[in-house]
Amino acid sequence: MLRRFAPRNDGYGGCYNISMITTFYLPTKIISGAGAFKQLGKEAARIGKKALLVTGKGSMRKSGLLGRALADLDKHGIAVTVFDKIEPNPRSSTVDEGAAIVREKRLDVVIALGGGSAMDAAKGIVVAAIGGQPVWHYIETHQKISGNVPKLITVPTVAASGSESNCGAVITNWETHDKCVLSDRCAYPVVSIVDPELTLTLPAKPTAQGGVDIFCHLVEPYITAGNPQPLTDGIVETSMKLVVDYLPSVLEKLDDLEARSQLSWASTIACSAFASLGGGDGAMTMHGIEHPLSGMYDMAHGDGLAALLPAWLHSLADTRQDRLDKLAGNVFGKKDGLVAVENWLKLVGMNLRLRDLGVEKAKLKDLADNALKTAPWLSAHPKKLEKAAIAAIYREAW
Ligand code: NZQ
Ligand code: ZN
Repeated sequence: MLRRFAPRNDGYGGCYNISMITTFYLPTKIISGAGAFKQLGKEAARIGKKALLVTGKGSMRKSGLLGRALADLDKHGIAVTVFDKIEPNPRSSTVDEGAAIVREKRLDVVIALGGGSAMDAAKGIVVAAIGGQPVWHYIETHQKISGNVPKLITVPTVAASGSESNCGAVITNWETHDKCVLSDRCAYPVVSIVDPELTLTLPAKPTAQGGVDIFCHLVEPYITAGNPQPLTDGIVETSMKLVVDYLPSVLEKLDDLEARSQLSWASTIACSAFASLGGGDGAMTMHGIEHPLSGMYDMAHGDGLAALLPAWLHSLADTRQDRLDKLAGNVFGKKDGLVAVENWLKLVGMNLRLRDLGVEKAKLKDLADNALKTAPWLSAHPKKLEKAAIAAIYREAW
């Protein structure tokens, strides 16, 4: 491992250590842009003949996007089984139901049409269909699977999770309310069709929730970085600025395709290997503290994040003030990073409190336990995150 430390001030407004060797891996063909949706049938026909189309319970049928997808797939000779049972915060039981259909009908391609919930459920279906066990088995054991049929195509209709450009899926076991991350190379989409036109029908609330999610995918590793790097900081600061600048415009004019396009780009970058290009580190430790909230209370992931963000940033002021100052200056053009973030959350209508999201004060310690159980990556936090420290963040956000 090549590792040389030569701290230097290189004018990028930061002090950087020479980084170690890193690997960039993303085996997904990403087709982006307005109108890209028209390529779905052609791309699916290159991959398979019999598809499971995984989507939510209503919005894709209501928006007409499901009908357009079915017509295009039919035109390209793809036999489609529609599985429109995915709930927000997808359940492992629903995933297993979909996997059983794939195995029973020997389907060779799984197409996700929807937001992060549909895309994550489709990934779980692929893993469970190939592996042959219930999806929770792979989450609990981290057992990796091998095999490449069915293959996955993702078509995001929300700029939020970034599930279209990674191999992770966040699945909830509704019996235990544990919300955990499944990660397997077989869950990388073979093709992702990122068409911002598909997000035009998304109402203001899920649009704002999605924008906050993208911002957090970027700001969490940025603030927690122990070994920041100029290229990574450049990519992440620019992507954060896209969300900070364009989310308010979209909320003012929901059919602003230019602004929607910028949010879609930021979404695809933010939770993918692109965001650590250049060797920067850091971790999404606030996500580990949020998942127990959406797992236990079935709230929107973006709402949980918005409520936690000021308290989480505040908890790092003693160890990451330099990163907060850089965030303030380079992303908001302000002096105080915490105040800038709080004002932005207010501007986009996401200045939320956990008590207003139904979280019981008496449950905060249990939630902290659950975070330590379900999010092993909390160990990458700049300072030791014990139960008391996590509960303190929940209390400050309550
Ligand atoms: O359920 P339907 O009827 O389809 O309606 C959906 C849903 O109610 C609706 N919707 C989606 N696209 C629409 C639309 N309505 C109108 N027009 C459209 N174009 O919006 C609602 C929210 O959809 P959902 O998929 O739940 O939202 P999002 O994309 O924010 O995904 C959230 C899920 O992603 C996970 C979260 O934990 C949560 O379960 N995440 C996945 C990640 C990953 N794989 O890397 C990372 C993220 O951090 C996140 O944890
Ligand atoms: Zn997220």
